[in-house]
Amino acid sequence: MTADRPLALGISGSPSPDSSSRRVASAVLQRLDGRGFETRTVDLAELPADVLLARPDGGEGDAAVRAALEAVERASVLVVSTPIYRATYTALLKTIFDLMPQDALSGKVAVLIATGYGAGHLLAIDHGLRPLIASLGGLSAATGIYATADHFDDGNPNPALDGRIVQAAVEAAALSGAAGLSVAEAG
Ligand SMILES: Cc1cc2nc3c(=O)[nH]c(=O)nc-3n(C[C@H](O)[C@H](O)[C@H](O)COP(=O)(O)O)c2cc1C
Repeated sequence: MTADRPLALGISGSPSPDSSSRRVASAVLQRLDGRGFETRTVDLAELPADVLLARPDGGEGDAAVRAALEAVERASVLVVSTPIYRATYTALLKTIFDLMPQDALSGKVAVLIATGYGAGHLLAIDHGLRPLIASLGGLSAATGIYATADHFDDGNPNPALDGRIVQAAVEAAALSGAAGLSVAEAG
């Protein structure tokens, strides 16, 4: 019974099987699920690298990447997560955006998430991810989410990080027109 629910799609740009940025994205998606969204995630590390680099394989790889792009097309909200590599988002994350047509994100809202080893590259959210989304016509929630290891207790977001997760989810839901702008309602 998901046909009428707007889609919130996670896009994970981490190659790590136990990714901290993906964990934060999952927490945002959980909040959006609570606000009436269907949720799914595209793990870019599971897609064929050649096809992501615009070298079609004429087979299953093409179909897998096409399905990911169709999910993006259908989504109302994108929850974009990446580790910081060399002061910005990963090359892996960038691949999917390079395959999108101009204005592919028009009318869509993005939640921006990055994790790094220190606070030094916090601005990669605003200097890297935000213009990336804007270049395709997308609108990003004001609250970006940046986290380091200090923001996790036993692998789970600590209260400070959780506060930003809730706020970003509330903003994304409101911007996409699917719910009211109330932190209290976010649960
Ligand atoms: C190749 C590479 C480059 C990195 N560069 C940075 C960096 O410039 N700044 C930073 O804060 N962390 C850097 N890191 C650390 C990762 O951003 C950090 O471990 C992140 O939390 C991993 O997220 P993930 O678990 O989602 O993959 C780098 C890690 C790798 C493997």
